[in-house]
Amino acid sequence: MTLSVLAATSLVATALGHQVSISVDASSSLGPWTPIHRFYGCDEPNYAYYPRGSALLRELGDIGKDQTFFRTHNLLTTGEPGLVGVPGLKWGSTNAYTVDDNGNPTYNFTIIDDIFDHYLAGNVKPYLEIGFMPKALAVDPDPYFFDFDPEAGADNIYTGWSHPPKSYERWGELVYKLATHLVDRYGVDEVNEWYFEVWNEPNIPYWNGTTKGFYKLHDYAINSVLKALPTARVGGPDLAGGADDSYLGDFLEHCAHGTNYATGEEGTPLDFISFHSKGAPLFVNSAGDVVEDGASDGFVQMNVSTQLQEVDGAFSVVASFPQYKDTPIIMGEYDPDSCAACTSSAYGYRNGLLYGAYSAASFTRAMDLAANHGVNLQGALTWAFEYEQNAILPNETGYFDGYRVLSTQGIDKPVLNFHRMWGMLSGDRIKAESSGQVPLDVVLSDGVRGDQADVGALATFDNDAQALYVFVWHYHDNNLDFPDAKVSVEVEGLPATFSNKHGKVTATHYRVDDNHSNSYAKWLSMGSPQDPTPEQYHELVRAGKLATLGAPKSVHVSKKGTVSLDFPLPIRALSLLVLEKGDGSCSP
Ligand SMILES: *[C@@H]1O[C@H](CO)[C@@H](O)[C@H](O)[C@H]1NC(C)=O
Ligand SMILES: *[C@@H]1O[C@H](CO)[C@@H](O)[C@H](O)[C@H]1NC(C)=O
Ligand SMILES: *[C@@H]1O[C@H](CO)[C@@H](O)[C@H](O)[C@H]1NC(C)=O
Ligand SMILES: *[C@@H]1O[C@H](CO)[C@@H](O)[C@H](O)[C@H]1NC(C)=O
Ligand SMILES: *[C@@H]1O[C@H](CO)[C@@H](O)[C@H](O)[C@H]1NC(C)=O
Repeated sequence: MTLSVLAATSLVATALGHQVSISVDASSSLGPWTPIHRFYGCDEPNYAYYPRGSALLRELGDIGKDQTFFRTHNLLTTGEPGLVGVPGLKWGSTNAYTVDDNGNPTYNFTIIDDIFDHYLAGNVKPYLEIGFMPKALAVDPDPYFFDFDPEAGADNIYTGWSHPPKSYERWGELVYKLATHLVDRYGVDEVNEWYFEVWNEPNIPYWNGTTKGFYKLHDYAINSVLKALPTARVGGPDLAGGADDSYLGDFLEHCAHGTNYATGEEGTPLDFISFHSKGAPLFVNSAGDVVEDGASDGFVQMNVSTQLQEVDGAFSVVASFPQYKDTPIIMGEYDPDSCAACTSSAYGYRNGLLYGAYSAASFTRAMDLAANHGVNLQGALTWAFEYEQNAILPNETGYFDGYRVLSTQGIDKPVLNFHRMWGMLSGDRIKAESSGQVPLDVVLSDGVRGDQADVGALATFDNDAQALYVFVWHYHDNNLDFPDAKVSVEVEGLPATFSNKHGKVTATHYRVDDNHSNSYAKWLSMGSPQDPTPEQYHELVRAGKLATLGAPKSVHVSKKGTVSLDFPLPIRALSLLVLEKGDGSCSP
């Protein structure tokens, strides 16, 4: 369908209204809610101890009742002399491993400690990626450093750090030294809660070696971790994709029955399975043709089906291994596009509402696909953090400058409020059916491209907290106008004890839209200042927090135990309704 037809259809739909009924049954438990969203990460380890980085870590640690984890590249990477520990785009360093004048290893975990101290101070635990190759250990180290160009993309970055070690014994010893150091410093109980995984995306040029070479790298590292801490949680392989070729299945086969390169025994312990999945946005015109960056007739078109097809393929591989069917799966990167530090018009979804709405649609579908395959999805990691001024990037980062980040210059972006909403969900997932939700098989094969957008719902009920949560999203792949959805939510099956003596419950409506929880809209309304006044800055920081649509309300529960709530939901907006036991103090 062409977009002119689409626009005409939308006008008709506006006139008629896009009516959506959502029915929620509090008594229909589907099992415990799995908070898959509470994993984050980035290429650049060193921002963890920069002021805004550590503040953002604390916000992530605070995001919900469940533990937050953080994954980063470059924990073992070597820094340029004079710039050790200074971040750059897609870059970071710790100098954990160097050699002395006689070529003997010298270990220094000071910077890694600083990074993890800041995680733990923010109530965040490491999802620890063991990599990349220190300069003094790489088989082919030169060139090692690079300058990354955000507009040119990631082609020039695969330098010496991506190479295999000169000596696998030394690689194993480095990992053993690191793991024993971490256990000494943080204690067995703490480190037992972390995840350990080796390298990043070994099936693409991040690893300049063979597949068998990666197994060897993996086995040596995992063996060293387990020698230091036999109860550590270990897994992998954090590969790019997971569906396209036989890589994931071959790796699982190696872990199940292969000869372990480090021990010579059969198999490699595997406590969790990790792979990545990314969408593929384009900048297109109304005929659907890709247009030049910044073209006036262009708009962003997301491709959620790309991402979901990868997930679906990888889940079917995992499901085909009976011994791994129940093994926790962490999608170690799960994003709408594939390069956080790149900028282009196709990535224009990152500042505004589209990032959160897309995340709602794609995270929910990943959970639905896991249920269909009978696999155990535990995490979907958002590869986005923040950038701030430093010796390498004194001026390169500005306000809302187009990177895939959660906060910009200390101002939270709207997408972070999607995460805050999911952080509030607790208890059991319960049945929630929306007449406006595009069916899973359609989203998987075609994305959300039709004339009606996707108005979906999910709900949880927390019996201990006596709270019911209904989350509603409104998403379309095309970043165009669509009519508001006229949403009616009907909740049934509330326990009799839930309402107060006046037959009321308290309803709080959290909202992300143009006027709520949206620092970007606020910044645009100020005229997009790159040098905001202190007053403007504080207003932007406030606008970045999760807000409610009005004050909490006291609502009536019918004799049958049902509650009805109606509201319009603009395109790309998110709503979270929280119903709590009325305390009797609200006026009836
Ligand atoms: C270890 O690394 C830190 C941070 O780079 C540095 O300040 C310190 O001097 C190093 N220690 C030794 C013994 O080289
Ligand atoms: C691996 O490294 C060599 C340089 O040592 C380079 O020529 C080659 O392109 C690299 N391979 C990949 C896949 O990046
Ligand atoms: C969206 O992704 C699917 C699956 O990868 C692909 O077949 C399709 O061509 C993509 N659509 C566009 C417009 O790029
Ligand atoms: C660039 O960054 C430096 C260091 O923070 C700052 O002093 C300077 O004013 C900046 N220059 C511009 C043009 O923004
Ligand atoms: C946002 O506020 C403006 C002005 O107050 C209003 O016209 C608009 O309808 C509001 N939009 C939403 C989504 O609430």
